Amino acid sequence: MGSQRSDVMLLGRKVTPQGLRPAHPPQRKPSARKPPEVQPVKIGVVREIKVHENRVALTPAGAERLVSAGNEVWVETQAGVGSLLSDELYVKAGAKIAPSAADVWKQCDLILKVKEPLKQEWQHIRKGQTLFTYFHLAADLELTKAMMASGAHCFAYETLEVGRTLPLLTPMSEVAGRMAIQAGAQWLERSRGGSGILLGGVPGVDRAHVLVLGGGVVGTNAARMACGLGADVTMMDVNLDRLRYLDEVMPKNCRLLYSTPMAIRDMLPWADLVVGAVLIPGAVAPKLIRREDLKLMKQGSVIVDVAIDQGGCIETAKPTSHAEPTYVIDGVIHYCVANMPGAVPRTSTFALNNATLPYAVELAKLGAARAMRENAALRSAANVIGGALTCKGVAESFKLAYTDPIEAAGKLG
Ligand SMILES: NC(=O)c1ccc[n+]([C@@H]2O[C@H](COP(=O)([O-])OP(=O)(O)OC[C@H]3O[C@@H](n4cnc5c(N)ncnc54)[C@H](O)[C@@H]3O)[C@@H](O)[C@H]2O)c1
Repeated sequence: MGSQRSDVMLLGRKVTPQGLRPAHPPQRKPSARKPPEVQPVKIGVVREIKVHENRVALTPAGAERLVSAGNEVWVETQAGVGSLLSDELYVKAGAKIAPSAADVWKQCDLILKVKEPLKQEWQHIRKGQTLFTYFHLAADLELTKAMMASGAHCFAYETLEVGRTLPLLTPMSEVAGRMAIQAGAQWLERSRGGSGILLGGVPGVDRAHVLVLGGGVVGTNAARMACGLGADVTMMDVNLDRLRYLDEVMPKNCRLLYSTPMAIRDMLPWADLVVGAVLIPGAVAPKLIRREDLKLMKQGSVIVDVAIDQGGCIETAKPTSHAEPTYVIDGVIHYCVANMPGAVPRTSTFALNNATLPYAVELAKLGAARAMRENAALRSAANVIGGALTCKGVAESFKLAYTDPIEAAGKLG
């Protein structure tokens, strides 16, 4: 075999008076050309401990993908149980089960989570460890300072940007938009205090009227569901280009109107269900329905204010929980749950994982410093790196010093 191979090699060489010349110019030592050794990264998934949080950051399919990329995946026992994902499924996918959260935090370099770390978890976070999760730091100075003090690298789902979109927020908006109609339909039932109207009506009986304020991700998903159930739907937005696009793609039982306070007031006596789905990025939601406007609405009608996490777009909205989702003002039922996707953790877990996994794979492959240098999306997710605040919005909110992520990456080496 050996001689055959060297014969073939000879065919590729040029014979000159000086003898055999190498087919290729002399090369540097082979070791210099080898790609850097890929170190297996220990990736940890802990059970979420926030009240009523049943999502998990990684599905078994996600674990399999990370393992097949050469990583080691550790999952805290029962971490997936709230989303009906058993330890056995993770083991089959190649993950290892850790007996406690402390074990996962201690031995893993990259931690995948869903919600921001709670105080009980802060003690485990250590210098050089990378966390990839929702942080919402701009809303929490204490958490921001704790993450800076930890020396960890915090990559936030909610600021990860691709072409001016936020792809790790989109799946939760899709879930919340679709849920808004389910929730609205339930609270319209008489037994719940609603007016007792069925969204789709029946032959010979009028269908319900649904008003959707905001034609973004939440609004479009809500309107599609309502249209699918046969309701009479009107969606309003202030973005004319968006309205033009929606005109092309929405079903014909979805009417599109330009949103003004007057146009909204005109629609309120007609509406059985109102969905609040507006967003002005980086600002509190505009109040589109005032307290005095409620008297224009029918008794037993329902408002689902999905925008409640940005303060709500109805003046009378205040955050509620899944345990007690509604309250009534002037005969109008208000549903203002701030974490609607939490009610459907299985769907939300898969939807979130589908969006986060490609970035988790990259973060594991590149490490924090290279990820910031080489991947613009992950650079936009970098919020706190080795003690430095690398998210402009968060720094501005708290008037703290801002460090450019590339500069922070440079300090990591
Ligand atoms: N409660 C929850 O569990 C939950 C879950 C997901 C998202 N949300 C929230 O839902 C809101 C909507 O999210 P999104 O992803 O659909 O945002 P988006 O940016 O996709 O859409 C917002 C839309 O509102 C429109 N808008 C702005 N001002 C308006 C006005 N005065 N009248 C009518 N439309 C107006 C914008 O033009 C845009 O089309 C956000 O506040 C988001 O945080 C809440």
